[in-house]
Amino acid sequence: MQIERQHVGMSRAQIVILTTDAAFEEQARAAFGANSQVALTVVSGTVDVAGDDLILDQATVAIVDLDASSAEEMHGLGRLMNRVGSRPPVVVITQGFDAAVARTLLQMRVADFMVKPVALPELMNTCARVAKSAASNGDATESEIYTFLPAAGGAGVTTLAVQTAMTLLRAAPHGKSTTCLVDLDFQHGACADYLDIEPRLNLSEIEPRPDRLDRQLLEVMLSHHASGLAVIAAPNRPAEMRSFDPDVVTRLLDMVSSNFDYVVFDMPRTWFSWTDNVLLGSNKLFIVSEMTVPGLRHAKQLVEAIRERLGDGPRPQVIINRFEQKMFSSGLRKNDIERVLGDAFACCIPNDYSLVREAIDRGLPLEEIKPGNKISLQIKKLVAPATEVKPTAESGLKRLKLSWAR
Ligand SMILES: Nc1ncnc2c1ncn2[C@@H]1O[C@H](COP(=O)(O)OP(=O)(O)OP(=O)(O)O)[C@@H](O)[C@H]1O
Ligand SMILES: [Mg+2]
Repeated sequence: MQIERQHVGMSRAQIVILTTDAAFEEQARAAFGANSQVALTVVSGTVDVAGDDLILDQATVAIVDLDASSAEEMHGLGRLMNRVGSRPPVVVITQGFDAAVARTLLQMRVADFMVKPVALPELMNTCARVAKSAASNGDATESEIYTFLPAAGGAGVTTLAVQTAMTLLRAAPHGKSTTCLVDLDFQHGACADYLDIEPRLNLSEIEPRPDRLDRQLLEVMLSHHASGLAVIAAPNRPAEMRSFDPDVVTRLLDMVSSNFDYVVFDMPRTWFSWTDNVLLGSNKLFIVSEMTVPGLRHAKQLVEAIRERLGDGPRPQVIINRFEQKMFSSGLRKNDIERVLGDAFACCIPNDYSLVREAIDRGLPLEEIKPGNKISLQIKKLVAPATEVKPTAESGLKRLKLSWAR
């Protein structure tokens, strides 16, 4: 392996190229070398051999030239991507191209890929573009996290978590964002059932060595719904009461939050040692309650308890599920709810049992069964950017880094 540095300069864009193609190297040197804004480093080698030692801490963009038909090289690229994540962005150059390769590259989250022969101006534009988008994203690799907590059993946490995840998945600009629903109710989880998919999370496998959980292992433990929603759910063990090491859960959360644009958590009723961490890392915190006096009381108590524990962290907001205006004409009204909950009141979700039950039985989003239904509309409003509570989201993120970065 031979490393040669052409230019050194911190303020310039640092481009690192890994290639064994002498002709491509020569072309790239001529093109990038003529640009005083670029410091080019060319490393000669294949990604499976040289990738593990490639130093990319200072790189603005990495360009990896590889033979996509070589399993070793693709594995080497996988390791490299696991190591670097989204910083720096990696542009892959391949000799041949097919849909399977493209899909694998997308899954590995390379920033872009090009097929030889590569036009140098196009390569330079691509580098500039991916560098710019990495820079403007700032901390965008941290996802937007929505957490749903129950004020009582059966209030509808799982239903609302599933539907929110579906809404976020569809709300993405250009349909490009990624969303992961995580069922943290390890004992009585229902997310996989509600979506009719096979749960694949095996916490016992991660437990002995939480650091083993990298992107590849995460991929193995993900289930995919036909809509494109990624789901992390463990098979139910109703007869097993066990708690997991908080490090395992923390590592899992960390991996999920840095690999998806949106993450939705379905929380259990029990408070575990890792619960605070999840809540602190959330951008939006929703307590789901039913419309009864005890339900409201529990919700209010939970809001206060969380505010006490999280301080200026994310502010919990209460969703009243299965709301029916007329049913409560002699009982609780919306005004009463607003009075009791004050600014912790988020919204009411209408009651529509037959619609929700059909969605659950068919493993489909509500929107697909009845487009424009009132529950979906309300959830859309709930996740709309206009309703964002900016300052708390920010402090939540800061804490997330402190508490999750271990
Ligand atoms: N808006 C709604 N309208 C009508 N029925 C609903 C609504 N939301 C949830 N349900 C129904 O309420 C029941 C409980 O919902 P869900 O499983 O989502 O609650 P949960 O809070 O996750 O329960 P658990 O405590 O068991 O985890 C389900 O049968 C579901 O169909
Ligand atoms: Mg549930």
